[in-house]
Amino acid sequence: MGAVRDFSATELTFLQGLADQAALAIANARLLRDAQSHLRKIQSLREIDMAIAASFDLGITLDVILDQTISLLEVHAADILLLNPKLHTLEFAGGRGFVTAALQYTQLRLGESYAGRAALERRTVHIPDLSLRGEENGLLRSPLFGQEGFITYFGIPLLVKGEVKGVLEIFHRAPLHPDQDWLDFLEALARQAAIAIDNASLFDGLQRSHLELSLAYDTTLDGWAHAMELRDMEVEDHSQRVTEMTMRLARAMGLEGEALVHIRRGALLHDMGKLGVPDTILLKPGELTDEEWNIMRQHPQFAFDMLSPIKYLRPALDIPYGHHERWDGSGYPRGLKGEQIPLAARIFAVVDVFDALTSARPYREAWSREEAIEYIREQAGKLFDPQVVEAFLAMVEV
Ligand code: C2E
Ligand code: SIN
Ligand code: SIN
Ligand code: FE
Ligand code: FE
Repeated sequence: MGAVRDFSATELTFLQGLADQAALAIANARLLRDAQSHLRKIQSLREIDMAIAASFDLGITLDVILDQTISLLEVHAADILLLNPKLHTLEFAGGRGFVTAALQYTQLRLGESYAGRAALERRTVHIPDLSLRGEENGLLRSPLFGQEGFITYFGIPLLVKGEVKGVLEIFHRAPLHPDQDWLDFLEALARQAAIAIDNASLFDGLQRSHLELSLAYDTTLDGWAHAMELRDMEVEDHSQRVTEMTMRLARAMGLEGEALVHIRRGALLHDMGKLGVPDTILLKPGELTDEEWNIMRQHPQFAFDMLSPIKYLRPALDIPYGHHERWDGSGYPRGLKGEQIPLAARIFAVVDVFDALTSARPYREAWSREEAIEYIREQAGKLFDPQVVEAFLAMVEV
């Protein structure tokens, strides 16, 4: 997040500058019209700022920038070309206001055409009348381009710390006579676009996997947990409840950081493997037969098989795979004993059984909280890790 915050602070100074200007203008009735246009522009920059902060998706941010460009500069079309640093080419990344697909497949070498020149020479290229340029018009990169009827062209290099990230192109189907205000705002938009592109590339690699992906993943996991509960109405909210309680117990036992992230995911998905258990067994109102138990007891193995191909969930598998192992070795599927059982699974098992007992099941009524606590206490050193039970009791009895 560092890059996003730095950027916001810098831009705040910039916005403050604009706001001061706007305030001055408001004081002067004759400049009221200017002030309103300033305010719209400030709002627009703020919207872009928010889009950059809220979205790790460069495509979305560029769309916002292009929308604002067209509406506030009152031009017919705009696009953004991104520099491919390996190939040294400019490639189309998004556009607005075009009636043909003329530019969508643009791929220019640096120095080639107007955009290539803007990037290579790091300066704005302004062509007041494209129709005068004929064949040497670099925009004849597509035969469809003529149908667009553009007259005015601006190509603005997108620079961050002196490095070219791409080019913002502006097209208008009439002559334009922009004033200084317009040009300043164009420059501000180009700066925003450059920062957005720079931020997005910072999210590549490690940062990307830690922020963007973990957000997307955790949204997916909530969806899965919810889907599991829809199947078995009796355990509604069970996943969320045991997840929260497990996090509290894990923190109380001194776990922190990354370990907690994996525990959260593992707890949410602990019974994912029940997706492999037929309804006739899962929802059966009575005792299970031996054969049914054989299937039910495979749910931790099913979870392991389903989730282990997903790389980011592998460290979270301790709970789905190990939550029915028991301290005395009487559990399943591996019959692990004592500290052979991963700590996360030992912690989770206590919470899961507590929550299962205090909830109604198709085959029995809910137990009272006191009965369930008593059962956990009794099973310390038998089914459960005695140290986990101790921390659990301290947590529920206050
Ligand atoms: P669940 O109902 O969510 O229960 C989770 C764990 O809580 C159980 O794991 C068990 O350790 C504990 N637990 C739940 N209910 C009771 C209970 O009434 N008495 C005691 N002493 N402990 C209880 P377990 O036994 O490995 O069961 C795994 C899953 O198998 C259960 O999840 C449930 O979905 C299913 N299951 C267990 N017993 C029956 C049954 O008699 N009939 C049916 N239809 N399903 C059952
Ligand atoms: C924490 O709670 O310290 C981070 C782990 C999480 O909540 O997912
Ligand atoms: C549950 O409580 O939903 C089931 C826990 C388990 O037996 O796996
Ligand atoms: Fe289970
Ligand atoms: Fe459970």
